[in-house]
Amino acid sequence: MTSQSGGSSRDSAPTVPSRTGYGQPKSLSPSAEGLTFWLTVVIVVVIFAGGLFGYDQGVISGALPGIKSTFSLNLFMLQVVTSWVTLGALAGSLVAGSLGDRVGRKRTLLLAGALFTLGAVVQSLAPEALVLVAGRLIIGIGVGVAAVAAPLYAAELAPASLRGRFISSYQLAITIGIFLAYLINAGLSASDNWRMMLGAAAVPGLALFVVALVTPESPRWLIMKNRRAEARVEARRVDRRIDVEAHLDSIELALRGEDKPAPWNEVFHREWRRPLLVAIGLAIFQQITGINAIIYYANQIFAFAGFASAESQAIVTTWAIGAVNVLATLIAIVFIDNEGRRKLLLTGLVGMGVSLAVVGAAFRFIGADGQAAASAGPTLAGIVTVGALVLFITCFAFSLGPVVWTVINEVFPARVRARGVALATAVNWGSAYIVSQFFLSLVQAIGISSTFWLFALFCAVAWVWIYRTVPETKGQSLEDIQQMWARAK
Ligand code: BGC
Repeated sequence: MTSQSGGSSRDSAPTVPSRTGYGQPKSLSPSAEGLTFWLTVVIVVVIFAGGLFGYDQGVISGALPGIKSTFSLNLFMLQVVTSWVTLGALAGSLVAGSLGDRVGRKRTLLLAGALFTLGAVVQSLAPEALVLVAGRLIIGIGVGVAAVAAPLYAAELAPASLRGRFISSYQLAITIGIFLAYLINAGLSASDNWRMMLGAAAVPGLALFVVALVTPESPRWLIMKNRRAEARVEARRVDRRIDVEAHLDSIELALRGEDKPAPWNEVFHREWRRPLLVAIGLAIFQQITGINAIIYYANQIFAFAGFASAESQAIVTTWAIGAVNVLATLIAIVFIDNEGRRKLLLTGLVGMGVSLAVVGAAFRFIGADGQAAASAGPTLAGIVTVGALVLFITCFAFSLGPVVWTVINEVFPARVRARGVALATAVNWGSAYIVSQFFLSLVQAIGISSTFWLFALFCAVAWVWIYRTVPETKGQSLEDIQQMWARAK
């Protein structure tokens, strides 16, 4: 596979002339001027959506013990309570694609807020296990809808020069949500108050709903619906500093008169093969390089490192994984629009690969391979493992975490954008599900060291594939990116 986009200067932005609109603002660059009030509101919406996604993902581990004793659940039902969120998310992300095209980006976000609130209330009041499962499914659908709608909305509303930061705020919010869930779990675990843990999501859910009521609709979607007058009003509301007519012209031009969203099968059309390949490839690599296996296994790995009590493991997991994940995402927010997507991806993958190889080696050195549990305090190899794990989380958090979502949301042309994003998001959930499902069997089959080395190998494959296939998209308007694919044909 070869790249037709980067040529020899792969790491610098392609020299696509930015014609109009956000690419070339009327007077001052939005990035130089900073955010307008409504652009800030857009970020608030994205942060609520991402935060709820992360919170719901992180809270279940703390809530499970209480749920188990309240309803006397067997292992099967515990798995259902845990995993039906993923199933709901898969379904929700697929539905969100066509919904986003049909009813608009804003109403799709409203729906996500309503689902989060409803799901949280149903879960916290559940009189029996089946009602709880129904609540988990509703929340899951909300997670899937939000996972498609929020970054897509951010991508379409953000000025080109700040788009990476806007979408990375979504990832930042996911990590803050996970971290808050860890903290609330720790705070409430003594009382086993799972109803409060799960119900707490209703408050930000309602807040998302209320903010999404007043936030602007995407001018790009309105143009696609042939509603230029409304698009003009919304574009002005978002940012008065840009040349609104030129901006809308460039969106119309990119649609080439095809002002209806494409049917599902057009997403697979030859014309869009390259953006689809880039989005789906990134979605898969984000998961098969092991992030969720590591988040899932953190406690056990810390046990091997000599943190004997469950309490001390929870503390290290909260701070070494949860807090580091949040802080390192800030690195991406600072650099993504200046240094570009490729540099972050390629640098992060080197760190991820090296740290995974070190974790594998340390496991072999400890001789644990899934068996030993240290009780006599941290060993040298154990400390190396913790250090390597922190390095892994750091590198993921400034690269594959935020950048994958950014690129997925900017590579598709308008006609297929919502559905393309939905498909890539569903593939991401599917890959996450497969990795978490088969991780244990893999550890049993080839041992934990080799499993980490396999993840490291996937990092190397991902590096080569990204180097050859993923173009730099920083600073270009969404319409410029569409032109770039057309030229590369
Ligand atoms: C991934 C999730 C992961 C999270 C961790 C996201 O970008 O899609 O699967 O759990 O990052 O921060």
